[in-house]
Amino acid sequence: MGKHEQATFTAMQEGTAEDWQIISTHFRDFARELPDRILSHLKLLDGDFGGFPIDRLEHSLQTATRAHRDGRDEEYVVCALLHDIGDTLGSYNHPDIAAAILKPFVSEENLWMVEKHGVFQGYYFFHHLGMDRHLRDQFKDHPLYAYTAEFCAKYDATAFDPDYASESLEFFEPMLRRVFARPRNSMYAKASAE
Ligand SMILES: [Fe+2]
Ligand SMILES: [Fe+2]
Repeated sequence: MGKHEQATFTAMQEGTAEDWQIISTHFRDFARELPDRILSHLKLLDGDFGGFPIDRLEHSLQTATRAHRDGRDEEYVVCALLHDIGDTLGSYNHPDIAAAILKPFVSEENLWMVEKHGVFQGYYFFHHLGMDRHLRDQFKDHPLYAYTAEFCAKYDATAFDPDYASESLEFFEPMLRRVFARPRNSMYAKASAE
């Protein structure tokens, strides 16, 4: 099947199995390049300081480096690297963006940690903004409360040090490619398998 073949329908109601064969082939190629799109999107955080002592890319690298040097596994480190990737488009809900991107590829534990890191991180600054720093306590009986609080305490909240020598984005690239190699939870997983 040639790369330039295209489906012939003008409304999905008229789509045929052949059309969808063509689209599936394109989808597989496109999906394979997901890690490249993630890397370019992460680079959008470069130079974006937002008043913080280091920019958001450096913060992401520092969070991931701290997790890696503390012996966390590859999936956890990649979650650490991506936890703030949503800062560009999710100005009011950035953890949801990272969680949506990671969802097909990571464990429920790591997904919950990424999704909730914003409210847990708030423990370190909400009170400076007239908010309730204990907002995370709504989850105090949740089995992943300690796991998520630990991510913020050890890696995220501490990752604003301009003097910390982080690994480069290239260092994390092979890990990112491995984590994003194959979806484990996706309604398209079967269709996108080779
Ligand atoms: Fe964040
Ligand atoms: Fe962060």
